[in-house]
Amino acid sequence: MKLCMIGTGYVGLVSGVCFSDLGNDVICVDKNRNKINNLKKGIIPIYEPGLEELVLKNYKNKRLKFSTNLKESVRKSDIIFICVGTPTKKNSNGADLRQVYAVGKEISKSINKFKIIINKSTVPVTTGDVLEKIISRNKNKKYFSVVSNPEFLKEGEAIRDFFYPDRVVVGSNDSKSQRILKSLYSPLISKGAKYIPTNRRAAELIKYASNAFLATKVTFINEIANLCEKTGIDVEHISIGIGLDKRIGSRFLRAGPAYGGSCFPKDTKAIVSTANKFKTNLSIIKSVIRSNEKRSDLLSKRINFILKNKIKNKVVSFLGVTFKANTDDMRDSSSLKLIPFLSKKGAKIKYYDPTGSKKEFEKLKNVQFSFSIKESLRNSDLVIVHTEWNDFKSINFKKITKNKKLIIYDMRNIYSPGKIKKLGFEYFGIGR
Ligand code: UGA
Repeated sequence: MKLCMIGTGYVGLVSGVCFSDLGNDVICVDKNRNKINNLKKGIIPIYEPGLEELVLKNYKNKRLKFSTNLKESVRKSDIIFICVGTPTKKNSNGADLRQVYAVGKEISKSINKFKIIINKSTVPVTTGDVLEKIISRNKNKKYFSVVSNPEFLKEGEAIRDFFYPDRVVVGSNDSKSQRILKSLYSPLISKGAKYIPTNRRAAELIKYASNAFLATKVTFINEIANLCEKTGIDVEHISIGIGLDKRIGSRFLRAGPAYGGSCFPKDTKAIVSTANKFKTNLSIIKSVIRSNEKRSDLLSKRINFILKNKIKNKVVSFLGVTFKANTDDMRDSSSLKLIPFLSKKGAKIKYYDPTGSKKEFEKLKNVQFSFSIKESLRNSDLVIVHTEWNDFKSINFKKITKNKKLIIYDMRNIYSPGKIKKLGFEYFGIGR
């Protein structure tokens, strides 16, 4: 099939490349000329394992193209995916939909035959209705269909999530688009993915409800972890003990720092804002947002406790600063609160991240990027394991540092407390 992805951010680029790998002809469009030129040279704007290889392969075999010309790309394609950003509005918690609607207007000017216009951007329920109205101003409804097909790709595992999804949700109010979309996704359905046809509004809400539920699960276990810390219980036992109940499920029950990234914080706020518009109180999600926002303060206090209220001049090393492992994404990472807190209190901070130094810390006092784990740990009083990269999972602390008094604060519970203590180091985890 002939596809056009508008927006080469995370969603558009990953989905476009994967669709081309499944044998479709895909044009990825972006108004950022620099980005498109780089992509043509094989320079990938984001860190995502496996993405570069797939881009190079499919660009070479010409199934994947890059363009800045939206109109021409839309004309050449049968299915158009809108994959632009829907950030939080500046003055409220709602989603800013200006980019989605602007793209809708542009598309409407280039409809030369029947097109399926798919919203893959995360948008509040009823956005598809508005988009349909915008496009109807320029084009008769029989020339297009507006569909919602949310993505469920996790950063760092996006390629695998695309090819082996638990489910594919397609929300359409007409059966023709439903049929075509089912055929587009047939290579994934034949490998076991469940195809869920719904109406458009339901698909829009499924996306927000999924992210809000996952954020709730993470926040739930984080709060249970707080109780574990006070009662001498290891939260890992609780995660296993409750997760094996199939009604609960064991995934997304890893206690850690506050959840971050480009989706959970933004989408939880947006669903509450949408519900407000419809005069519905989503009290659980509201309290999840509050709890998560307070979590970094709680962790800051814990660091203060670990350092016995003497943060000034202490050398603190961070292993990983992104919002989770296998990504270079800093958005809403809890390190953005923890590192400034420590810097303000007079600590010297060294950080190592496999994806390199971060501009977010450039202006902070006493914060320095280290080029290796070893360098980062040199002269360190406290090491904070902030993300769960494999690179951090089997560090031999005894070999790597001369400081016998090094304290380890393992915010992802990747180490066995017993083994670390046996090596003679003081160990703190989350909820243990
Ligand atoms: C999330 C969803 O998982 C995807 O299904 C969705 O498509 C995506 O948002 C999106 O809307 O685009 P992502 O933000 O990449 O994906 O990251 P997650 O792996 O979901 O992690 C989110 C946050 O929760 C991270 O800070 C992570 O460290 C934290 N987390 C996750 C935990 O603390 N514990 C867990 O058990 C799981």
